[in-house]
Amino acid sequence: MAAVMPQHDRTPASDGQPYYRPVAGECELFEVAFRHRLPLLLKGPTGCGKTRFVAHMAARLGRPLYTVACHDDLTAADLSGRYLLQGGETRWVDGPLTRAVREGGICYLDEVVEARRDVTVVIHPLTDDRRVLPLERTGELLHAPPEFMLVVSYNPGYQHVLKNLKPSTRQRFVSMEFDFPPPEAEAEIVAAETGLSGERCAALVNLAARLRALKGRDLDEGVSTRLLVYCATLVQAGMRIDEAARYTLVEPLSDDPDVRAALGELVEMTFG
Ligand SMILES: Nc1ncnc2c1ncn2[C@@H]1O[C@H](COP(=O)(O)OP(=O)(O)OP(=O)(O)O)[C@@H](O)[C@H]1O
Ligand SMILES: [Mg+2]
Repeated sequence: MAAVMPQHDRTPASDGQPYYRPVAGECELFEVAFRHRLPLLLKGPTGCGKTRFVAHMAARLGRPLYTVACHDDLTAADLSGRYLLQGGETRWVDGPLTRAVREGGICYLDEVVEARRDVTVVIHPLTDDRRVLPLERTGELLHAPPEFMLVVSYNPGYQHVLKNLKPSTRQRFVSMEFDFPPPEAEAEIVAAETGLSGERCAALVNLAARLRALKGRDLDEGVSTRLLVYCATLVQAGMRIDEAARYTLVEPLSDDPDVRAALGELVEMTFG
């Protein structure tokens, strides 16, 4: 019997809508999946807006959001719940998935491929037309209300080949691929997030395109929208743009001195 429940976030439905700039009909897809009780899988590189998108959609649909960051120690009980010792008594405590089912919320499993295989056992009955969550330990069989939705995401880029979803899991989800937003949209996002001028944001996005072109050859992942937001934040705080770019668009990408030198050169050429 574990003493604590795993970490997860519960975002209440009453929160204001987090800013999200739609890119390719993803809001409509989410809404139609929600209305028709279909689970959704989002895949895409780090920092491209998956988490922000889910937060935005949960607020827009007025549902509480339970976010669980999956890792390789995460068990089925971490999601569904367990008996905990409290004041000398054992008491059942719902896990985030169970709470989302009971409340008709959205449960978001981030980096789902990291979770242990037994986690799929709990999510499978919720992702087909049964939409049930059996709680063996309490003997309950919960029927998910129409407002319950399961969303999972992962980054297909860097995971080990063995860490992949089984076809029987994968084929239970409506799936959508995310990528970095097109240049105009990305500049708009960076400007909206930081208040930096449109012109300077466009210049950063331009640089990002050149840095991303190095992906594959020397880099596992291209510079993310998240890092562009960091860069613009530092510039907006008064830092020189080439310096900010070094701290946010070069250093975080690689530990290899040659790779960083190549990235640094591109920064120099653009802003030096
Ligand atoms: N379409 C968008 N609208 C608004 N903000 C965005 C958008 N795309 C990216 N962002 C910005 O990029 C940041 C990173 O996005 P987010 O945290 O959602 O990435 P992610 O895809 O979940 O990454 P990871 O796989 O690492 O968890 C956000 O905090 C936000 O500032
Ligand atoms: Mg995320």
